[in-house]
Amino acid sequence: MLIEPKVRGYICTTAHPAGCAQNVQEQIKYVTSHSPITSGPKKVLIIGASTGYGLASRIVAAFGAKAQTIGVFFERPADDKRTASAGWYHTAAFEQVAHQAGLYAKSINGDAFSDSIKQETIARIKQDWGGQVDLVIYSLASPRRTHPQTGLSFKSVLKPIGAPYSNKTIDMMSGHISNVSIEPATPKEVADTIAVMGGEDWMMWIEALLQEKLLAKAAKTIAYSYIGPKLTDPIYSKGTIGVAKKDLVAASSMLQKRLSPIGGQAFISVNKALVTQASAAIPVVPLYISLIYKIMKEKNLHEGCIEQVYRLYSDRLYRKEGQVLVDAEGLIRIDDWEMREDVQQAVAELWPKIDDTNLSTMTDFVGYRHEFYKLFGFEVAGVDYTQAQRIEVPIPSLYPSKINSVF
Ligand code: NAI
Repeated sequence: MLIEPKVRGYICTTAHPAGCAQNVQEQIKYVTSHSPITSGPKKVLIIGASTGYGLASRIVAAFGAKAQTIGVFFERPADDKRTASAGWYHTAAFEQVAHQAGLYAKSINGDAFSDSIKQETIARIKQDWGGQVDLVIYSLASPRRTHPQTGLSFKSVLKPIGAPYSNKTIDMMSGHISNVSIEPATPKEVADTIAVMGGEDWMMWIEALLQEKLLAKAAKTIAYSYIGPKLTDPIYSKGTIGVAKKDLVAASSMLQKRLSPIGGQAFISVNKALVTQASAAIPVVPLYISLIYKIMKEKNLHEGCIEQVYRLYSDRLYRKEGQVLVDAEGLIRIDDWEMREDVQQAVAELWPKIDDTNLSTMTDFVGYRHEFYKLFGFEVAGVDYTQAQRIEVPIPSLYPSKINSVF
């Protein structure tokens, strides 16, 4: 069938298999055209491996460090009427290229918060690797979580805390800027967002791996966070998601202690704001990203997920000098270029001036929208969109091979 983008709000409900495959190829090409990460990891588990930062983390591990990878994610396969989700097609393409290159790559599709997916992942690691995982990347972005022990379900919200927040925001489709006003979260919403996006599940994963003695000596684990500028503070750093991220930071300290008997380490990497399915959902942030893209491109500082993660592995986690590079608070900062004083000064100067009349000259909204479509395999250079596509694309080593009723 011929596939076209169908955008609803901040998501696209269709995805293009050839475009997604090309996205993966481009990222692999970026990695293989840079120096190999010689002291990199060898057996890597990526939780949230199919899109955004997690996909890039899997690609850098495999093609930069020649690591074996197991990827866990939650993606929708194609059915009679609908395409699969973008992360499905990315993984199909990733596995195909990895296998051709002789790299072990297996994938597990299901709810990473559940005990059953953890147990299945553990079974794979035992059977295929006999343990020895030396890097666990935690890159989940989810709107909900069912707690594996209580069965309670939580929904995360993107709201300020304590007081309403108003600022400019942009409508993805029309490109129209308007003012958005968001009421503060209730205490229950704050607690629920922590339950979804905080550190408990990350700790459960590491605990399960430790119990089964599947982590190698000196294994590392890392989860991703964001800080950002003052203007997004009320909706991000000081909002519900920010509180959840603080919980993630607290989890990293606990994990650090937990991992010390095997000489392991736990880190938080603070990453740059980028167009992903997760960030598109946050009010105000897409307009900020459009502005930061313009400023950073002009200063030759722009990076996407793959550039960010390559720098994370090569200049922070697996440096030739040995020790992992962290800031005074122990955080890995690959948002350093976004947060540079001259960049943030430009943000502070330009932000108040942006309106409908100067959007295309003052920001890179065109670039933002292009990147948004690319997330789903559209507007990808070199792809012929007049060619009919087979929407059912297998992921060669997927578990479960038959898709269950969750979709
Ligand atoms: P994304 O939406 O591109 O990827 C989310 C991943 O999580 C996908 O692989 C998806 O399949 C998986 N996932 C979601 N729910 C799941 C579940 N229940 N079970 C298994 N897998 C599930 O998101 P993105 O932006 O790459 O975010 C990843 C992490 O990076 C998040 O912690 C986010 O806060 C952080 N981050 C993102 C930034 C951004 O600007 N996009 C900036 C800094 C940090």
